[in-house]
Amino acid sequence: MDRIHITGGAPLNGVIPISGAKNAALPLMIASLMTGETLELINVPRLADITALLRILGNHGVDQMVVGKRPGQTSETGQTIRLTASNIIDTTAPYDLVSTMRASFWVIAPLLARFGEAKVSLPGGCAIGTRPVDLLIMALQQLGAETEIDGGYVIAKTKKGLRGGQVSFPKVTVGGTHVALMAAALAYGTSVIENAAREPEVVDLADCLNKMGARIKGAGTPRIEIEGVARLNGARHEVLPDRIETGTYAMAVAMTGGDVVLKDTRADLLHSALDVLATTGTEITQVDGGIRVRRNGGGIAAVDVTTDPFPGFPTDLQAQFMALMTLAKGQSHIRETIFENRFMHVQELARLGAKIRLDGDMAIVEGVERLRGAPVMATDLRASVSLVIAGLAAEGETQINRVYHLDRGFEGLEAKLGRCGAQIERVRA
Ligand code: EPZ
Repeated sequence: MDRIHITGGAPLNGVIPISGAKNAALPLMIASLMTGETLELINVPRLADITALLRILGNHGVDQMVVGKRPGQTSETGQTIRLTASNIIDTTAPYDLVSTMRASFWVIAPLLARFGEAKVSLPGGCAIGTRPVDLLIMALQQLGAETEIDGGYVIAKTKKGLRGGQVSFPKVTVGGTHVALMAAALAYGTSVIENAAREPEVVDLADCLNKMGARIKGAGTPRIEIEGVARLNGARHEVLPDRIETGTYAMAVAMTGGDVVLKDTRADLLHSALDVLATTGTEITQVDGGIRVRRNGGGIAAVDVTTDPFPGFPTDLQAQFMALMTLAKGQSHIRETIFENRFMHVQELARLGAKIRLDGDMAIVEGVERLRGAPVMATDLRASVSLVIAGLAAEGETQINRVYHLDRGFEGLEAKLGRCGAQIERVRA
């Protein structure tokens, strides 16, 4: 298995281009199943999760074309993918494909809405908690689906098509909102989603569906109204910038010091995280087409954070923020309210010399003077990258094992950091 070697201590200076958002691209690609016409997606990141989903869509019979580079494009330009689901040959998503990535479970909604049946394996994904799908199934039932679980598969059927209904989520769920949106868009009649997730990725999906002919209002608020339509058409849509990648590199700069422009991204996608970073003493300014992040001298102030659904502080940046707080002056309290098991990075950060104590859903981080490089291993995507940024700030060599987690979510990580002065390289197994 590949490893990443980092020699820490160098500040980051330069420009980092931000890729399209993985967590927007995945549901957008799944939305291609909702029409027989072509959906063209621009700015799709080159990531293992995208490749895995292409395999799953291919298994259903979706034709795929990855458009080649055009003059003026660089390796950073996201890829354009054309997906055409005109000949669906199979409405089953099998265990061996779905078990690698939780988001692939979401294919259940378009398959059911368009073909009246779907059989989808219960999902896998990062080891960050139990991550059930009960609310996703509830949403489909509210829209008229009959469901059963048999042999590890969710089987969903509808006799006369889905019909509009009221979906009230007892808890904010991003996947549940994506599923409800896609199902309701092709249901007969009007649907309302209450306590909907407000994440930018939900808005991006709704925008794309509206381009495809859906009638969705209120995405980005807790109440979304959908007037179902009989069919959708093809469309062309650009994936929004990755706010988690943006926040990750911002935290890396806050931790190592330096001056970096994060380009092709938007501050409004991650205000809460940028506000917290500013409170730690990092200078954040909006520049044309991006965000400038600076910390030159001066210590890192300890700040408490609690993860929350958007617009709150994202759980997907919790591990990275904890890495930053390991070098803060004083004590910081980090509360994780979304996933119950998302502290797997704590023991690995401790290997670098961090002082962190866990108390239920709270991590209490005691800032230390310095971290020292060590071999570490990560168990999920965001935990892995928290070790990368800690390694960049640590003295000496850090070796990160199980790099495949990083390849699921960070496009060109070593190249992007390397060009800003980081000493980072991948050692191929
Ligand atoms: C999405 O996961 C993201 N994944 C996650 O990013 C992200 O951490 C999460 O939203 C929260 O922001 C993608 O977009 C592909 P949820 P999702 O449904 O949709 C509970 C990453 O690193 N819940 O919003 O699966 C659940 O257990 C990944 O890129 C139920 O109880 O998350 C959790 O506690 C990791 N029943 C909470 O809701 C359900 O049926 C929020 O989960 C569904 C969820």
